[in-house]
Amino acid sequence: GPVNGPLSGRHVIVTSGPTHEPIDPVRYIANRSSGAQGTAVAAALRDLGARVSFVTGPADVPAPAGVEVIRVQTAAEMRQAVEKALPADIAVMAAAVADWRVANASDRKIKKDGKGNLPVLEFAENPDILAWVSQLSEGRPELVVGFAAETNDVVGNATAKRARKGADWIVANDVSPATGIMGGTENAITLITADGSEIWPRMPKEQVAQRLADRIARAM
Ligand code: C5P
Repeated sequence: GPVNGPLSGRHVIVTSGPTHEPIDPVRYIANRSSGAQGTAVAAALRDLGARVSFVTGPADVPAPAGVEVIRVQTAAEMRQAVEKALPADIAVMAAAVADWRVANASDRKIKKDGKGNLPVLEFAENPDILAWVSQLSEGRPELVVGFAAETNDVVGNATAKRARKGADWIVANDVSPATGIMGGTENAITLITADGSEIWPRMPKEQVAQRLADRIARAM
């Protein structure tokens, strides 16, 4: 990014993409996050001069150039990578982190036993990286931004999420199937801050990212 941008000298951590939670060495549980919005946010912050640590799960889209890319698979690895990347001035958590991991993952490929017995997966809750960073008592980033994918009562749910997690801002998007946003190229978001909510018009994910980055730069 430019050396004289509004975010030059600032360090930003961006999380992006899905996580993969292993079942055994060859199988995993994942979600449909493409990583497109997180990647666009990282590129837009870079373009404003920020030094970006980009912590990404296995995404469909390539990581942006000009950022430090830290590739992870699981939520536990993502948390560790964020911890290692701290301190930061700003954290933007755009990853679709799996809520649960498989607690009884096998270190060998699970086989059919030939008698029709079925494997039973047990789950354990993953760490909430956004809540943890938001509530750091020492070294909390000055601005912590989370995302929220909602299908109903977007403002109500996202406002509650902002308070529950302790984030400064929540970027909420309506992912009800009729919007076509999940997996699409456009996004329609509502920005939730301490001052209330702001509805942005539907626009390409790159433009959402640029507008968010401008807004972040103005807040710093
Ligand atoms: O609670 P929910 O998953 O809807 O919250 C979404 C926000 O929290 C996103 O910003 C996401 O990156 C973050 N998150 C996280 N760690 C988790 C779950 C969600 O950082 N384990």
